[in-house]
Amino acid sequence: MLLGTQRVNEQGHLEVGGCDTLALAQEFGTPLYIMDEALVRESCRRFVKVFTERYSGEVEVSYAGKAFLTMAMAKLVDQEGLALDVASGGELYTALKAGFPAEKILYHGNFKSSEELELGVEVGVGRFVVDNPYELQRLAELAAARGKRQAILLRVTPGIDPHTHAKISTGQEDSKFGISVASGLALQTVKEALALPSIDFKGIHCHIGSQLLDSHTHEDAAEIMVGFIAAIREATGFVCSELDIGGGLGVRYLPSHNPPSYEEFADSVVGAVVGALKQHDLPLPRLMLEPGRALVAEAGTTLYTVGPIKTIELAERTKTFVSVDGGLSDNPRPVMYGAEYSVLVAGRAEQAKDKTVTVSGKHCETDLLFSEIGLGEVHSGDILAVQTTGAYNFGMASNYNRFRRPAVVFVQNGQADLVWERESYDDLLRQERLPQRFLEG
Ligand SMILES: Cc1ncc(COP(=O)(O)O)c(C=O)c1O
Repeated sequence: MLLGTQRVNEQGHLEVGGCDTLALAQEFGTPLYIMDEALVRESCRRFVKVFTERYSGEVEVSYAGKAFLTMAMAKLVDQEGLALDVASGGELYTALKAGFPAEKILYHGNFKSSEELELGVEVGVGRFVVDNPYELQRLAELAAARGKRQAILLRVTPGIDPHTHAKISTGQEDSKFGISVASGLALQTVKEALALPSIDFKGIHCHIGSQLLDSHTHEDAAEIMVGFIAAIREATGFVCSELDIGGGLGVRYLPSHNPPSYEEFADSVVGAVVGALKQHDLPLPRLMLEPGRALVAEAGTTLYTVGPIKTIELAERTKTFVSVDGGLSDNPRPVMYGAEYSVLVAGRAEQAKDKTVTVSGKHCETDLLFSEIGLGEVHSGDILAVQTTGAYNFGMASNYNRFRRPAVVFVQNGQADLVWERESYDDLLRQERLPQRFLEG
């Protein structure tokens, strides 16, 4: 499986963005996150295009920054004309520092602190996606105190189980996110929002889950959401001008994964939305989408250096552990969700994957990254390339065991640009404070 600009060069090495991955490992060290810039740009453009071609109303695509956000990424998203979804003060701050226009930012999160709400109101984010009645009241007070009228969407739970991993299911009735439509609480909160002078209620939002490999749940969600817009009109006379269907489109982690193409996904979503709007005799709202993974996951490759290899003779077979110089701290997804990945030996990218190994990290946990995968011949010192690591890898990285978070490079046309420098040991100590009494005696 080769993705985006990945290819195997004359030396048999994996290349991304015209850069030899062995040369990248040499120059920047490992672990290393590589982002295929041309693929990210093309994905952004294509995603917008497929929706605007199919929907005759206005379309707004926001990139979900939680998937992968650096200042360079925020700039790229702006250059490609997308809006941006942020889910914390830190994401918002990063975007603003990159010069991202505040009015094109949607601010998410199920518990925005006072500091976060204030920052969002002060800088004038385009939309708050309000998660609960408590947040609505606090936001209304903050906006009123500043003489502002804040535009919002209300996040609701359509009550759909998307049949993906429990930790990335968010649209079902018992979700921690949003307000239930079925219970009537969502309608009640809409009425409250409409009555608040400092709140400009625009419409409704849902996000049903992530890594969804078929579009049926999005179709169901679209119908329920449009049905709710009709219920709001019936109860209040107000017609929502915006409908946000969230993110969730899946990607290829393994060759066997077969997510809908952008075109198929847009056909499903637009078909369901427009069909339901007709049924309820509603005008076309601005249709909003928030893809994260679908825009960046396949553009990411992580490089590791292979360290010790252990072969253990078990009664029925031999087990081989291949340890690499990263693990849980740069990619927690295998441990969190049992996520699977495609892995290859970067210097022999076309070799047969005829030998089964387990790739482990170097943390003080049994942080098995890739269990019992076909890899083929592998030696200490080889570079492993893990595909589809562009989403929720760098973004979820930690300093567990005081590991330094790896560097990130954008590659394109044979050029590699550092967008996040590998942390130094001093970076790890930057927040340290030694109280005076620890220094005495
Ligand atoms: C509100 C919201 N929008 C968009 C996304 C992006 O989802 P995905 O990366 O699956 O497209 C998420 C992911 O958690 C989310 O919570």
